[in-house]
Amino acid sequence: MTAASSSRAEAFAVQPHPQPLSADARAQALSDLQFGTQFTDHMVRMQWRQGEGWADRRVDPYGPLQMDPAAAVLHYAQEIFEGLKAYRWDDGSVWLFRPEANGERFNKSARRLALPEVELDDFLGSIEALVAADEAWVPGSEESSLYLRPFMFASEAFLGVRPAHIIDYLLIASPVGPYFQGGVKPVSIWVAQGYHRAGPGGTGDAKCGGNYAASLLPQQQAFENGCQQVLFLDARDGRYLEELGGMNVFVVRKDGTIETPRLTGTILEGITRSSVIRLLEDDNRKVVEKDITLDEIRAGVDGGDIGEVFACGTAAVVTPVGRLASPEFDLTVNGGEAGDVTMAIRKRLTDIQYGRAEDIYGWMQRIA
Ligand code: PLP
Ligand code: COI
Repeated sequence: MTAASSSRAEAFAVQPHPQPLSADARAQALSDLQFGTQFTDHMVRMQWRQGEGWADRRVDPYGPLQMDPAAAVLHYAQEIFEGLKAYRWDDGSVWLFRPEANGERFNKSARRLALPEVELDDFLGSIEALVAADEAWVPGSEESSLYLRPFMFASEAFLGVRPAHIIDYLLIASPVGPYFQGGVKPVSIWVAQGYHRAGPGGTGDAKCGGNYAASLLPQQQAFENGCQQVLFLDARDGRYLEELGGMNVFVVRKDGTIETPRLTGTILEGITRSSVIRLLEDDNRKVVEKDITLDEIRAGVDGGDIGEVFACGTAAVVTPVGRLASPEFDLTVNGGEAGDVTMAIRKRLTDIQYGRAEDIYGWMQRIA
């Protein structure tokens, strides 16, 4: 455990874990990483009360929460979250990727869910404080990182339907390897029929738990059909590609043009998505954000005009798609292989994240 170095991190009072995992047990845990199954020794919390604001900033031993059964989040799902990673570079230093963007999106989600906003200094300070406490948990093996999960929920015990007056903010951390089991290889995608993730005016562009709850039944159908992820079409026409349950989607045309669904308000504005667009454009590739119909994807994959499809997000980084399926069709993309453009953009991004390439964008921030 190391002391946090910034004053915004020092605002969080540290209560060290009385029995942190031993170095041996931690090394064992870090040698077998699966996404989101293990958690570090500490967690951060703070609480907001109406009329008082945020207080009680703490780094506590990781452990179960005590919660009133009437806590509003358990009934009305007033909750949001974020996901970002801390990367260990070869020289042992630890870095975040565009954390302000996550902080800004957290507050955008907070506004949509009628939750209080968090000062960016508290958001970043909480991350710095937790990584300082649990730095030894940042793995150093290839493709690994410490996944950081800030979240906020209505903890007030009250069953009336209105924005809660007591809100808890927490941050937990999980050492992770690749999101999909089996590492970086093409995944199969199930195109949801009859189910949508989000509709106009809904919460599609907020990162709230309810969106993921709505995705689970079609996600289950994806699993039943041998697919790892579900792709949603728009709710109004049922024709346009939106995004996957937890990732944005891109297609690569044979002429080299890259397309991704434009942001309509029902799609989460991915930080990986915007970074990928920037990197591709700076590499002189044409990137078009537009409405993309499923019909044109089917025709394009079938006829060879679409050579590659990939998904991207913090957890999944950049993941090739090798198959698109639904009750009506089953298409192999790029012979089921990872495409060159996909793997090149994946490398371009991860080289910056892991400090193997110069970061001319100022995206990386050192925290340890
Ligand atoms: N879309 C959804 C629904 C997500 O859950 C995520 C993951 O955060 C993304 C897209 C990608 O966003 P980001 O690249 O900011 O992680
Ligand atoms: C992420 O990429 O951070 C996500 O939130 C996707 C998923 C794990 C929910």
